[in-house]
Amino acid sequence: MNKVAVLGTGYVGLTTGIGLANFGASVVCLDIDEQKIDRLNRGILPFYEPGLSELLHENREQARIRFSSDIAEGIHWADIIFICVGTPAGADGKPDLSAILECAETIGKNIRNYKIIVTKSTVPVGTNEQIRTRITSLVSKELIFDVVSNPEFLREGRAVYDFLNPDRVVIGVESDRPVESIKKIYRPLYLNEIPFIITDLKTAEMIKYSANCFLAAKVAFINEISRLCDIVGAEVQTVASVMGKDARIGQKFLSPGPGFGGSCFPKDVLALAETAKELKVIAPVIGAIMESNDEQKKYVFAKIRQKYSDMKNVTIAILGLSFKANTDDMRESPAIVLIDELLRVGARVKVYDPQAMPSAKVIWGDKIAYCENEYDAANEVNGVAILTEWSQFKNLDLKRIACSMKDVFFFDFRNIYARKEVEEYGFDYVGIGA
Ligand code: UDX
Repeated sequence: MNKVAVLGTGYVGLTTGIGLANFGASVVCLDIDEQKIDRLNRGILPFYEPGLSELLHENREQARIRFSSDIAEGIHWADIIFICVGTPAGADGKPDLSAILECAETIGKNIRNYKIIVTKSTVPVGTNEQIRTRITSLVSKELIFDVVSNPEFLREGRAVYDFLNPDRVVIGVESDRPVESIKKIYRPLYLNEIPFIITDLKTAEMIKYSANCFLAAKVAFINEISRLCDIVGAEVQTVASVMGKDARIGQKFLSPGPGFGGSCFPKDVLALAETAKELKVIAPVIGAIMESNDEQKKYVFAKIRQKYSDMKNVTIAILGLSFKANTDDMRESPAIVLIDELLRVGARVKVYDPQAMPSAKVIWGDKIAYCENEYDAANEVNGVAILTEWSQFKNLDLKRIACSMKDVFFFDFRNIYARKEVEEYGFDYVGIGA
């Protein structure tokens, strides 16, 4: 029981497939996109993710992983089938489950013997039962299979570390039958005494949404505190650091910024809020998270806007376009709202990001200027704004930037620098609650 098929080759699918191969399973990653599959079989990943390429190379060398667009063959071959396709937010905020249900359909049409179907995609409570019902409707009565909910908690930019070193493994089941097989493919974690939580399907689905929405709420909370600190003149970094010393709060996810982005927080918060609404459960805290986050994205634009009487002859350099450091992903990035607002008021925009420039060109085309590096971006501009905490922005040659700019405004929307340190170079420093 260690032949694994993974449906979907996004961040979760590829990290899961390569990670399980690294744990010793035989893995085939399946996708209908033949071009993507061809590049993967040549060791080329479709996105930037630190360490994943090396892990892919190692496991290809050991012939533990392959990639195929022959979905039926992969399903026939595997003992355990992971569903790792996207569940993007629909226009109404509800997750689009079409890819999930298509997987269930394909699996139902192709299984001939006992299989374990594992849903790793983040899905609303009750979806795993829908998957079971769909498959049951397509197979013969005698055919036995199990559905398992195994939500993923990896973060983009740290996906390899998070997969290989999870805080816990959640396994939602309807019976004990599949548990041992799932524990076996995660055996290195089990031997490392990583907690394995065995629970029912609905609880496993709810654990995932609850965790992600709480993290999003924590970020939205400290961003609201940063807006208050700006007005009252308190220092948000100190507030956050001292808050975090309370073991009940913890230091992580209390860094103020330009608002959260990514393909998960926004979609998961909207999904849980929709679930509450549909079930007529009053949940204003969950419902307010996105509104609070939208405020923060507008707030960073307002902090730039208030420094200039007329934006028409102003050029702003934006350092960092991805939604966070160590990824090339721009989905829901705060940079999108900020740059669109700057263009709307007639400002000119120069940008630099170590990884996300190709994605930016798809969004803005020739409406903005794409620079070679952070110093090229800062040259001859009226303001520099840091939006993503890439390491190379954490030790800028401030003297060089000060000499090359036309104006003195330094917008540090990740509070990377201390105000005093920046003001020594003659800058007008603008932080977030700092
Ligand atoms: C998140 C969850 O962390 C992960 O467990 C889940 O599996 C997927 O969703 P991800 O979206 O990849 O992971 O990134 P994360 O590191 O959580 O950051 C999300 C957003 O919050 C980013 O925009 C980040 O910049 C922002 N953030 C995070 C802050 O602004 N401040 C913080 O202190 C932490």
